[in-house]
Amino acid sequence: MSQSGSALPGFYSREFVSDPYAAYDYLRRTGPVRRVYRAGVPVWLVTSYDEVRLVLTDARFVKEPARWPVPIEEADPGLGGLNRFVGKHLLYSDPPRHTRLRRLVSATFTPRRVAGYEPMIRTVVDELLKQFDACDEIDLVGRFAVPIGTTVICEMLGIPAAERKDFRRWSLPLVSDHGPARSTEELAAGRRAALDQLSEYLGALIRHKRARPTSDLLSALIEARDGDGRLSEPELIAMALLLLIAGHETTVNFIGNATLALLDHPDQAELLRRRPDLLPGAIEELVRYEGSVMICSLRVTGEPVELAGVLIPEGELVMAVVAAADRDPDRFADPQRLDVTRPSVPHLGFGAGIHYCVGAPLARLQSRIAIGELLRRYPRMEPAVPRHELTWHPSITLRGLNSLPVAPHGLG
Ligand code: HEM
Repeated sequence: MSQSGSALPGFYSREFVSDPYAAYDYLRRTGPVRRVYRAGVPVWLVTSYDEVRLVLTDARFVKEPARWPVPIEEADPGLGGLNRFVGKHLLYSDPPRHTRLRRLVSATFTPRRVAGYEPMIRTVVDELLKQFDACDEIDLVGRFAVPIGTTVICEMLGIPAAERKDFRRWSLPLVSDHGPARSTEELAAGRRAALDQLSEYLGALIRHKRARPTSDLLSALIEARDGDGRLSEPELIAMALLLLIAGHETTVNFIGNATLALLDHPDQAELLRRRPDLLPGAIEELVRYEGSVMICSLRVTGEPVELAGVLIPEGELVMAVVAAADRDPDRFADPQRLDVTRPSVPHLGFGAGIHYCVGAPLARLQSRIAIGELLRRYPRMEPAVPRHELTWHPSITLRGLNSLPVAPHGLG
């Protein structure tokens, strides 16, 4: 692949989506900063740890789509329809707008509030696991990770139980980027329809909660104010949408990915059963090894930037490939090995800099409980299908399994 630009090589192929790490390794070794084409649009792909970290933390890389060289939908087919909210959206804003939005969400999404969710998460996990005691085989994604992710985020935002069933149906089209071959007008229309339904629903919910506030996060966001006043209704809808989608799909996918990694490494799973005190560090290692965000949201160079000896001109799109950075041998010893005893894991799986994941403490808590309980309750758990039969979501940015059939009591 030349530095002047070429198509992303088979990035949407089934082989790449099943195991992107060998390709990332090749890209990092042969040119960690390179210009490629994504859906016909040139982007810079950054794959080495130090450079990815720089892209995420250096203010010369900006987010406001007003600075983008092409409209957001063209630059990122996965974001189809979201442009209505861009500008009111935490992830697509720069300081000072980002600082204000982030301050308001941080003031409500406090460590105390997150810690307060622990009993609710334990109850959700416990009730799901009880149902599996009598099962020979279950789909760990559909019947465990999805209900945990959906219930927790909906409880948190105060979405009534009866209204939750539509969420995954709405959120899936919004996070799948189907690649150039499948990004037809029909798929884009599906995404717009899902976004319309979800934002209409959230608008109505916000108006309802404004009239009758409760103790949930959405009510707290409605009430939150700083020197510049409260969040406007479009800002509230954008924030609720982001929390719902960013907090739901990522966690669901991570619980599936982490369980698969432990099934692939029974010695590491056994070690965690014997030493549950290793679990918090193991979650960090699992995010590094098989996290659910492979590529962070797009950045643009606000001025020319030299990165690993390559000059990126002003106004060009940049993709920070955290999944490649987190297996960079210059940063992590023996990076292709899952080692739950790694003493410190400064991974980039939750991002870095001002856009660092707002929900990381909640994601850690949910995963620790879900994976810890799964290991404890089912010491003989095994995969129920051969590894090569597993399929992944058609996305190069988010990594997640379509399903993970397991035998909780072993195959006998
Ligand atoms: C940002 C990963 C769970 C809310 C991010 C970013 C990453 C990430 C990599 C940075 C994106 C960028 O810089 O372009 C993950 C992973 C999760 C997870 C791997 C689960 C294992 C959650 C949860 C929530 C959440 C549970 C909320 C309930 C957010 C928000 C941002 C964000 C609001 C944007 C922050 C900003 O722009 O300032 N996440 N996330 N995430 N995450 Fe998460």
